[in-house]
Amino acid sequence: MAAVLGVNAVFHDPAAAVVVDGEVVAAAEEERFSRRKHGKQAVPFSTWEVPEASARWCLRRAGLTPAELDAVAYSYDPSLLPSPGADVTAHDWEPLRTLYAAKAPSFLASALPGLDPSRVRFVPHHHAHAASAYLAAPWPDSAVLVLDGRGETASHVGGWARHGELSVLAAQQLPHSLGLLYEELTEHLGFRRSSDEYKVMAMASYGKPVHVGALADLVRATGDGGFVTEAIDWETFAPRRLPGEEWTAAHADLASSVQTRLEEVLLDLAGWLAGATGERRLTMAGGVALNCVANARLAAESPFSDIWVQPAAGDAGTALGGALLVAHQLGDRVSPMATAALGRSWTEAELEAYLMDADVPYHRPPDVAEAVAEALAADAAVAWFEGRSEYGPRALGHRSLLANPCRPDNVHRLNVIKGREQFRPVAPMVMAERAAEVFSGTLPSPFMLFTHQVRPGWAGRIPAAVHVDGTARVQTVAAADEPLMHRVLAAFERRTGVPVLINTSLNTAGRPMVYDPRDALECFGSAPVDLLVLGPFLVRRAAGGGR
Ligand SMILES: [Fe+2]
Repeated sequence: MAAVLGVNAVFHDPAAAVVVDGEVVAAAEEERFSRRKHGKQAVPFSTWEVPEASARWCLRRAGLTPAELDAVAYSYDPSLLPSPGADVTAHDWEPLRTLYAAKAPSFLASALPGLDPSRVRFVPHHHAHAASAYLAAPWPDSAVLVLDGRGETASHVGGWARHGELSVLAAQQLPHSLGLLYEELTEHLGFRRSSDEYKVMAMASYGKPVHVGALADLVRATGDGGFVTEAIDWETFAPRRLPGEEWTAAHADLASSVQTRLEEVLLDLAGWLAGATGERRLTMAGGVALNCVANARLAAESPFSDIWVQPAAGDAGTALGGALLVAHQLGDRVSPMATAALGRSWTEAELEAYLMDADVPYHRPPDVAEAVAEALAADAAVAWFEGRSEYGPRALGHRSLLANPCRPDNVHRLNVIKGREQFRPVAPMVMAERAAEVFSGTLPSPFMLFTHQVRPGWAGRIPAAVHVDGTARVQTVAAADEPLMHRVLAAFERRTGVPVLINTSLNTAGRPMVYDPRDALECFGSAPVDLLVLGPFLVRRAAGGGR
């Protein structure tokens, strides 16, 4: 019976999680508190920063003081690296990162007064990612695949988890890294690396994989569970695009080629891992596992029959994975993660106090689900703030922007509200029991981690939910898991015959997802959203009111 705090602090996406007696009590990303997207830059100088605000909140939610913690899991192990010599500037300051990581116990103790620094345990980065998959998934045994930019010395682990114990079967050492390859491409295509990779994935849908043959030599599986990524001169494929410049077919073709090659190598790695373990179930984490197009291809073409992906698959998820792993090591029976709604919530009284402070007219309808469905059927754009916020990059019906999928111009409209590029798709949520009627592919999919084909006959009915390539990134909503959102979908379906809504994250360009009621009010006040739902309360835009 242990209380464990997990923290991710080394690269980007600092986050904290608390696991008590094997149960996930709270998990949150620091960016939601600091309002700085991805929390910090992944440079060695920032390694000393620990996720103070999210760690304090997780402890408060758990009713714990720092002194009451049995252990703290830190998702990076500096002992796996050469000990930093006198020159911390060598190797692009890498020894400084190691030095700061090694001093994390004292940084944590000063951020969380009362914490005993000797309780801090260093967890190898990829073991923390892996545990966020195999210990959080609903299965006792699975093959495990972790792929990211980098950990201490590697960029990948292929393993086998049996009854909570991981056997590492393959680990690809740096500099070979599928995550860093994709990051380099992201930068070459004019986006922010280690942040905007999903934009490259979206752009790939507009291109053709014309360079995939040339890339086959440069990026390839090695047949032993690992892979090679050679240095690539991106200019030979497409000119560098500066941020904000128009993109061309050459850029989209390059994105499509790398995306396709990534999928092929992942299929090779998954095939090897299935052979080595004999498992039919695969669990995944690491930033590459947020590539829902590749995940869908693995689900369709790999030997695995079931795939579970940690919703916070990026580095934020290592806070949870580290905490779960240490709880397991301390003898606790770890429970699977039932929901990604692990962040902060506010009481009705607290929400109402925010509305009164803001001095905006609001009302409390008899049934918020019916009122919102009515507005959505009349084509309102709805900012939806309900319950605990999501852990991970996807809005899953707690900090969401909702819209009617039947209107094709709603893609443009939502991209304007969010101030983002027009080539970006918006995703649908669907009543779980109706999902197979509308979409094919991996179902149910409660965490939006796979793409799906829209079934014939439905693409024309929900045009705003369909990407240029005929796919959609679906969230299935079950009444047992998300009763209120399910009632909104049902009420919308009664009015329109369509059991689908558009659901995109509630934020504006470059900002983290809305976290607290003040963020929601600021977003509502600054973007052309028709209706704000704050718990049981509704705020309507005065001018035009609901279009
Ligand atoms: Fe990572």
